[in-house]
Amino acid sequence: MTSQDFRAAAPRDPAHRTEPTEQQSWDQRIAALSSEHPLKRDEMANSALIRTLRGLDAPHTPVWFMRQAGRSLPEYREARVGTGMLEACLTPALAAEITVQPVRRHGVDAGIFFSDIVVPMKLAGVGVDIVAGRGPVLDEPVRTAADVAALPELPDAALDPIREAVSRTVELLGDTPLIGFAGAPFTIAAYAVEGGPSRDHLRPRTMMHADPQAWDALAQWAARTSGAFLRAQVEAGACAVQLFDSWAGSLSLADYLEHVQRHSTDALGAIADLGVPRIHFGTGTGELLAAMRDAGADAVGVDYRIPLDTAVERVGKRTVVQGNIDPALLAAPWPVLREHARDVLRRGQSALAHVVNLGHGVPPETDPEVLTKLVAFIHEETQ
Ligand code: CP3
Repeated sequence: MTSQDFRAAAPRDPAHRTEPTEQQSWDQRIAALSSEHPLKRDEMANSALIRTLRGLDAPHTPVWFMRQAGRSLPEYREARVGTGMLEACLTPALAAEITVQPVRRHGVDAGIFFSDIVVPMKLAGVGVDIVAGRGPVLDEPVRTAADVAALPELPDAALDPIREAVSRTVELLGDTPLIGFAGAPFTIAAYAVEGGPSRDHLRPRTMMHADPQAWDALAQWAARTSGAFLRAQVEAGACAVQLFDSWAGSLSLADYLEHVQRHSTDALGAIADLGVPRIHFGTGTGELLAAMRDAGADAVGVDYRIPLDTAVERVGKRTVVQGNIDPALLAAPWPVLREHARDVLRRGQSALAHVVNLGHGVPPETDPEVLTKLVAFIHEETQ
């Protein structure tokens, strides 16, 4: 199918129309990918997600959900019986199966690789576990320059289970794109310095001012580690990536620009030559959206706290936006959720292009049938 066909199927405001040269420039950007990479296939390059992330017209507005693989699905809970979270992430056949479960069930437009932002840290040899109901917890927090200097480097061969899981997943997904991901340096460093989940992230925010050199070294380590994790996924077949800076919303814009942004640029830079679209997401980041775009993103993920058209005013018309159905409304009566989804679609029209997602992850208690219905609704409304 040509881009002309899609234009006929889904007319947009001509002011935002992307010229065919945009497609050619993307073709050049992926020149460094191996010839076997799925993004080299026309079916994949023309999928709704990839076209939208490239800022091109698509057959329908694509939708996927953060945390679509996980506890809301009975088949996930069954697959996980007797297997710890990190063990599941490092068992390639299981990680592949769990990644594909929500794609099969809901018909979403992408798989998100089943793993965790602390997996590369674990593979580097840091003592970390994921405690159910709490999140990542380190054996020893990283608080001093000496702690930072002692952090182990991630050997390339340690990423082999990730490469194998991604290859198996891509095989199972066929023409549905796989999104790879990693934690952004601030969010990774926040777990490292706090030693576990925290609300205000006071310790990392203190460290960046009290000992900026140690902070820089820690954030550089996190950028290298997350960058290598991203690169392994893309080389093994992921067709887009999302960098999660989940906790960046606890930062002032000044601190983000001075102490954080360049490290996120480095993490995203690890795959810049491979040309896959890059999404950059955080929560509570209304004030940071333009700075997050400038870190090297093709698309910014917007949480539920600001409307998409406001986000577009902040990032401009050259950036794709992703979001931002409020996860709280998944538990509301269907007509309430439907009208909210319509409003999100309407506001998303002001962007260069729009990928539908939630404003944060799927809550574990969500009725999976609501997600299936929501996907069908988004597709019907935008065809
Ligand atoms: O479906 C997907 O989104 C793909 C898999 C995925 C997981 N974690 C699986 C997971 C992804 C992309 C992540 C990223 C991640 N991990 C982030 C960024 C996204 C976000 O939510 O902001 C963060 C901050 C983490 C750290 C982390 N891991 C937390 C806070 C938790 C939750 C603790 C809990 O049990 O509620 C985890 C555990 C985790 N990661 C689970 C899953 C499915 C739950 C583990 C389980 O099933 O027992």
